[in-house]
Amino acid sequence: MNFSMARRASLQISLLSLLGVVVIAAFAYQSIWMWQQMRHHDAIEQATLAAEQVLIKNSMANAAEMWQRLDEVLLSIGNVQAKVIGADGQIMYGPPVLWADAKYKETHMVSLAGLGGEMPMADLELAMNITEDRNFLTFIGGLFVIASLVWGVLVVVISGFLAKLQLKPLREFGLRIAEFNPAQWNETQSQVSRMNVMDASNEPEELRPVIEQFNMLMGKVKQYNQQLLSFNNNVAHELNTPLSSLTISHELLLKEKEMNADHWKESIHSNLEELQRMNRIIQSMLFLAHTTQGQRGRFIHLPSLRSPIEGVLEYFDYSFEDGDLSTSLTGDASADCDPELIKRAVSNLLSNAIRYAKAGSTVELDIQHNQDNNQIWIEVRNTGKSIPEEAVSRLFEPFYRVEQSRSESHANHGLGLAIVAAIARLHGGDVKATCDGEQVAIGFSIMGLSS
Ligand SMILES: Nc1ncnc2c1ncn2[C@@H]1O[C@H](COP(=O)(O)OP(=O)(O)OP(=O)(O)O)[C@@H](O)[C@H]1O
Ligand SMILES: [Mg+2]
Repeated sequence: MNFSMARRASLQISLLSLLGVVVIAAFAYQSIWMWQQMRHHDAIEQATLAAEQVLIKNSMANAAEMWQRLDEVLLSIGNVQAKVIGADGQIMYGPPVLWADAKYKETHMVSLAGLGGEMPMADLELAMNITEDRNFLTFIGGLFVIASLVWGVLVVVISGFLAKLQLKPLREFGLRIAEFNPAQWNETQSQVSRMNVMDASNEPEELRPVIEQFNMLMGKVKQYNQQLLSFNNNVAHELNTPLSSLTISHELLLKEKEMNADHWKESIHSNLEELQRMNRIIQSMLFLAHTTQGQRGRFIHLPSLRSPIEGVLEYFDYSFEDGDLSTSLTGDASADCDPELIKRAVSNLLSNAIRYAKAGSTVELDIQHNQDNNQIWIEVRNTGKSIPEEAVSRLFEPFYRVEQSRSESHANHGLGLAIVAAIARLHGGDVKATCDGEQVAIGFSIMGLSS
């Protein structure tokens, strides 16, 4: 059965409290019963002693006087009847059955052998009528049972009500989540609600961590949402420019009255460049989508990461020469990785470094295995254009470029480092970028071999 938390808590409390009450009631009942037993025992002992005294003292006197004395003694004790049986087995005193009508009685028998002189006696039997006491005990027992049941019901109702009252903030929390509309979570809201969906400061201690976690989660959702929006925006923007220029170019060609073969060829050539550019963006986006979704390529064991990286350096030979740049490659490590993806990441880092390094400087490439966290870092360092501090942390966002001017953005779309980050994630690694004056270091890591 699926009980609510409140009902479960109230049932548990009720059961516990009922158990407590039953134990106390049983203890009280047992105490009263023992006290009654002791009282009956004492009374009958007392009556026996008194009766024996009368019989001893008066055994030589006449019988009528002796039985009268015994009547008086029994009357003074109250509730006790006695029977004296003679040596011949005849009843000398008292009724044949003591307390014949009583429902409950306590009897006691003592030997009187040798007493009575001419009237030899054998036994003294005493009985106490305890019906009233037993009835009282039954009444008390019943009272305890009823009181326990009433108490149990009361505790269920009251604790249920209190538990509901205590869980009210939780219900309100649920309602607020249900009412929360992410579409209205914009900059026009107050500072608290802009940062957090809910204010945890006035909530009960138990609920605060839950609200804080919820706020954190919603913060991430908001961040992802914004990234998605800006991604869509950027894609549209990036594709809009070549598409517009293609459209205009075609319209102009169609409007031409005379067909000039050279001009048409030139236009088709430039349109082809735009198409190739669009194709590059789409290919990069597809690649990014595949790697972000975790599509692994061919993972193989490489005893040395240097060989694929040296291949990339060779590929860029002409660019290095053209930019009057020299290169250096230090360090090495072995890894399980997709060499094609590693080459692509290194190539993205190198193409950036070549673009921004100042003439005559050296582009350094370094491979380091960090044994502490088993990460192999591949870093490219160059001296040239510095990157503002606020931009460093955003370099790996898709379509992010430090300088967004049109001329630069024509050839580059800000997808290179996003691809590096996706490749690093695919290899269980991370990315980092630092800028110290003119020295820019951008790198990524992949997971080292498991020992
Ligand atoms: N070595 C570097 N020195 C200075 N700025 C850099 C360097 N590397 C990257 N950047 C900055 O980071 C931005 C993002 O780089 P990224 O490689 O992601 O995009 P891109 O090079 O502009 O375009 P794409 O790589 O898609 O052709 C660049 O536009 C540039 O502003
Ligand atoms: Mg780039």
